[in-house]
Amino acid sequence: MDPYKYRPSSAYNAPFYTTNGGTPVSNNISSLTIGERGPVLLEDYHLIEKVANFTRERIPERVVHARGISAKGFFEVTHDISNLTCADFLRAPGVQTPVIVRFSTVVHERASPETMRDIRGFAVKFYTREGNFDLVGNNTPVFFIRDGIQFPDVVHALKPNPKTNIQEYWRILDYMSHLPESLLTWCWMFDDVGIPQDYRHMEGFGVHTYTLVAKSGKVLFVKFHWKPTCGIKNLTDEEAKVVGGANHSHATKDLHDAISSGNYPEWKLFIQTMDPADEDKFDFDPLDVTKIWPEDILPLQPVGRLVLNRTIDNFFNETEQLAFNPGLVVPGIYYSDDKLLQCRIFAYGDTQRHRLGPNYLQLPVNAPKCAHHNNHHEGFMNFMHRDEEVNYFPSRLDPVRHAEKYPTTPIVCSGNREKCFIGKENNFKQPGERYRSWDSDRQERFVKRFVEALSEPRVTHEIRSIWISYWSQADKSLGQKLATRLNVRPNF
Ligand code: HEM
Repeated sequence: MDPYKYRPSSAYNAPFYTTNGGTPVSNNISSLTIGERGPVLLEDYHLIEKVANFTRERIPERVVHARGISAKGFFEVTHDISNLTCADFLRAPGVQTPVIVRFSTVVHERASPETMRDIRGFAVKFYTREGNFDLVGNNTPVFFIRDGIQFPDVVHALKPNPKTNIQEYWRILDYMSHLPESLLTWCWMFDDVGIPQDYRHMEGFGVHTYTLVAKSGKVLFVKFHWKPTCGIKNLTDEEAKVVGGANHSHATKDLHDAISSGNYPEWKLFIQTMDPADEDKFDFDPLDVTKIWPEDILPLQPVGRLVLNRTIDNFFNETEQLAFNPGLVVPGIYYSDDKLLQCRIFAYGDTQRHRLGPNYLQLPVNAPKCAHHNNHHEGFMNFMHRDEEVNYFPSRLDPVRHAEKYPTTPIVCSGNREKCFIGKENNFKQPGERYRSWDSDRQERFVKRFVEALSEPRVTHEIRSIWISYWSQADKSLGQKLATRLNVRPNF
């Protein structure tokens, strides 16, 4: 059976038009009226059903990452890492696993242009033999905040002003002036990679630290990286205006056209690993999602390749109803204590119960492709056929038992209950290093974008000064450039 194919109900095959109830419809273009001219009768069941279906066609869009497109393909292991993890889908080179991937922008609405300066989502659902593994990442290796309790605020600041529905940098820079830890993510947002040419020419990152668990029980912290084989390409600010002006769906079209013509997009998967015993040896906290792990100390190791060779069969079923969740991991891969990741484990299923309904995991695109079994049932829009009579556990009459135990993280947690910041903030070193790694033209484009944003009339003198102070602590010359262009005398 084709594991990718979306299948409607098997009886959905009449050669003539019917109602949802299956009754033949002999006239689908005229309402039932009294006489030729009307009025229209309420007893026209088919008319009411047709219009009622239509008026309910839209479901809530995703609260973030509303604009996106998915495609299908496979992940293939190319390098043996079976000594690092007992994950079945990583068991040996050559093993292939079907995947669906959704690319997205974050801030704007479902039909917004794909040329916006914004982070891009890069979410991969692996349909493994041991359940679905969702690696729900971005095209930036870092994020603005460290703690999930700040996520609603960061999104409110980035989204349009609730009064005017206009995205405004005075609000964004006001909020983020409280977040010096956001600087490194700005080094992606306001860098050239802030507008990828399309979805094929961008990197992807798992962003968070996860844990690999080996058969032996040994654990390693891990970060995931996707590298496009066709290279990284971006649009300049000027090009973005032209491309987006001509076609607000250019990246969706690019992905569709590439796959349809057999030019299959491909990414290599790399990992960085760290022994948890070494976590205190760095000048940053390895679980801090605002930091990268330096590749000269923790090198990239190749693992496999992701190939997208199938376009979706239906946008609504396979993109709009697609539901990713960082909570979905498989034996051999576990979370870390990263506070942002921990909040995400809750947030996705919660929003999807609201967005798609409580049985969203039964939808073909979200359901595991492997055998699965539990007693979570009924609820709105349940369409799973079950004929068993024992729906409790355990039972002497039902042969279903607990699955075999698999190795999980042995890392012990202890401590007081507290609400606090992480110890090693180190907010300025990595942003400074990244800025200095660029050539002078790239630095200049970054400065120009920041000057423009800080020049919005409602950005106060205080906020400008704070940003200049932050960037000066990252790189003195950068702070000086900003101060000169903004005509602000630094007070530090
Ligand atoms: C989508 C919440 C942080 C990547 C979403 C959605 C929510 C959400 C509610 C919509 C999901 C849906 O309707 O199906 C959060 C919260 C976060 C957080 C509460 C922080 C605690 C992040 C981070 C990343 C990320 C750090 C990157 C690593 C994504 C992606 C999607 C998404 C790629 C789109 C998934 C898709 O294509 O359907 N997020 N998010 N999010 N988020 Fe997050």
